[in-house]
Amino acid sequence: MKSGRLRAGPVAEDFEARFARAVGAEHAVSVNSGTAALYLAYRALLQPGDEIIVPDFTFVATASMAVAVGAKPVLADVDPETFTLDPADVERRMTRRTRALAPVHLYGQPADVSRLMRLASQHHLKMIWDAAQAHGAAFRGRDVGSFPDVVCYSFYPSKNMTTGEGGMLTTSDSALAANFRLARSHGEESRYHHVSLGFNFRLTDLSAALGVEQLRKLPAAIRRRRRNAALLTRGLSGIPGIALPQLREGMSHAFNLFTLRLDLEALQMSREEFQTVLARRGIETAVHYPLPLHRQPIFRGSGTDRDFPVSTRLAQTVVSIPVHPGLSRSEIHRIIHAVREVASVGVRA
Ligand SMILES: Cc1ncc(COP(=O)(O)O)c(C=O)c1O
Repeated sequence: MKSGRLRAGPVAEDFEARFARAVGAEHAVSVNSGTAALYLAYRALLQPGDEIIVPDFTFVATASMAVAVGAKPVLADVDPETFTLDPADVERRMTRRTRALAPVHLYGQPADVSRLMRLASQHHLKMIWDAAQAHGAAFRGRDVGSFPDVVCYSFYPSKNMTTGEGGMLTTSDSALAANFRLARSHGEESRYHHVSLGFNFRLTDLSAALGVEQLRKLPAAIRRRRRNAALLTRGLSGIPGIALPQLREGMSHAFNLFTLRLDLEALQMSREEFQTVLARRGIETAVHYPLPLHRQPIFRGSGTDRDFPVSTRLAQTVVSIPVHPGLSRSEIHRIIHAVREVASVGVRA
């Protein structure tokens, strides 16, 4: 603030350089939301009428930004254990018009990277990875931000790192990076010289300053999230009616969320009751997401519950419990105690 320069400038550039280095991509382009990042990625890689396959179980922007550029989001079901795009269902939903895939690293767990990359290369599809929840996640030791063609991040406050509002695109394709830089700032090549259609999607230096500091803290925050997830997993294993997050081989989960799957019949309660009892003990829970995309009014007509059995079931049964890096060990034990009590199975030592 003392520099007197609050708009996008040198701090945003510095943040981009650090972010690109951190994820192992050649370029990082900052924008003012994850939604803007997805919009610019789709706009650069899709033509009107193209189809892009997205998971039915994600935040709305993964699909709605395809609509915004005149493309058609085709919904596909997800894997019941990892919540991420099911490659077999992707294959079933491909048509001659399919141009791209947009897998989501949901809750911080990488999607099935190797199978999806194989599909993309066999069918000449572009890949746009939605890593809004996956800062710090990796596949076989390689950061998810370094994969082609483009990776989109959000810095919304609930994410693994935040700038208040903000987003980032990472890519190792120089032409794409140049496209994003122009489009985020009115297609302005030099002062008041506009060569193409653009917008104001710039991240301010003020927000970028938060980003630089948050990025510095990210590795420690991810270690804490993983430690918390390991404690929760140990403390909550073996409860009938509660399934814990499953780690797929080779995946380094960033644990933006720790999401349980409830067997409501076994627990003999509704999800709302489960949440209310925990809330009474001071434990905040959340549902990501109560509606699969095919049930959202905006995507009416894109399929029925029978077309998406897994995401339909997940939307009814998932609940996220706290895993954030600010939790102390004793708070985690209190959470474990409360969840075991709600499930009436007693507390493990
Ligand atoms: C999976 C996913 N995609 C996209 C977004 C959009 O990001 P933003 O809220 O920064 O626009 C979010 C965050 O809310 C998200 O969780």
